Amino acid sequence: MQNSIQFQEDLLKWYQTHKRTLPWRVDNPNPYATWVSEIMLQQTTVPTVIPYFQRFLGQWPRIQDLEKASLDDVLHLWQGLGYYSRARNLHQCAKKIVTDFGGVFPSDEKALKTLPGIGDYTAAAIRSIAFNKASVVMDGNIERIMARLFVVKEPLPSAKSILKSYAQSLSSQIYPGDYAQALMDLGSSICTPNNPSCSICPIQKYCKATEENPEDYPKKQMKKKIPRKHATLFWAEDLNGRVLIEKRPAKGLLGGLMGFPTSPWEEVSDDALKFAPIEGKWMPVDGTITHTFTHFHLTFSIVRTVVEHKTEGVWVKKEDLVHYAFPTLMQKVIQRMEEERRAAIGA
Ligand code: ADE
Repeated sequence: MQNSIQFQEDLLKWYQTHKRTLPWRVDNPNPYATWVSEIMLQQTTVPTVIPYFQRFLGQWPRIQDLEKASLDDVLHLWQGLGYYSRARNLHQCAKKIVTDFGGVFPSDEKALKTLPGIGDYTAAAIRSIAFNKASVVMDGNIERIMARLFVVKEPLPSAKSILKSYAQSLSSQIYPGDYAQALMDLGSSICTPNNPSCSICPIQKYCKATEENPEDYPKKQMKKKIPRKHATLFWAEDLNGRVLIEKRPAKGLLGGLMGFPTSPWEEVSDDALKFAPIEGKWMPVDGTITHTFTHFHLTFSIVRTVVEHKTEGVWVKKEDLVHYAFPTLMQKVIQRMEEERRAAIGA
């Protein structure tokens, strides 16, 4: 683009009057708050993140506070946000910054990328927003804007590098933080995936896609179908209304979070009952629980039993389950079993 300075000015002018008011968007954003917000926003929408961000900063206002927190507490606060490796990485990263960097966030992109959970996107976002240093921030919104501005015919994900070079050619050296966030806001309010509001877009005159159908960009490679896995979930209760729970292994999906025992999650799952954590008469519960992860769909069939004698394991009263860090998938199970209980007593 010939007139990239004019382009930046038009976008920044729009941002000054249209920017969203967000709790992490303050006059002198500190790197800690910026980092927490950017990690939360990675796979989650702004309205969902806002209350979590406020609770997080309320509980751990400084990186030194987070460093001292227990991982269980961090996972507990994260409950419902999903992608829990983000919480584990935040906690680990806080420890590393306190021990290796004296509690001070580095501003150098290379140093930032050595930290757990900080990749290209987050490093660039922290540098531009918290340090106001020129960086090329690329997220899905910004990729879409670049693909439309320059009608990039190459499909994602192979178009990523060309989209980044377009973004680099336009990026602002003077107001990197505002510029990056202006593109994010434009992507979420005007240059949306469907029904973009081109007629009120501040950069429409630079956009080649307005001569075609902007919704055709970015081009996408055909999505691979993701597999469905199945498992049986074992809900064991004792006579005092306590339920058997377990902590999932630290490594792997939902690592370190609480759950109920299950058979292995497999595409073909037969003879699952042999994985029951205790002996008993296991009765099926109607219906299934379904959940979608990045790489597969999961279906749980639930079976239940009541044990009369104390057995090993962690048994928790149903009303105390709220004090544990259960991922959304397991919360669906708790809710389903509560419905089952109410139906049984005719409530
Ligand atoms: N999405 C990711 N980071 C964001 C930010 N800083 N402002 C608005 N939306 C975002």
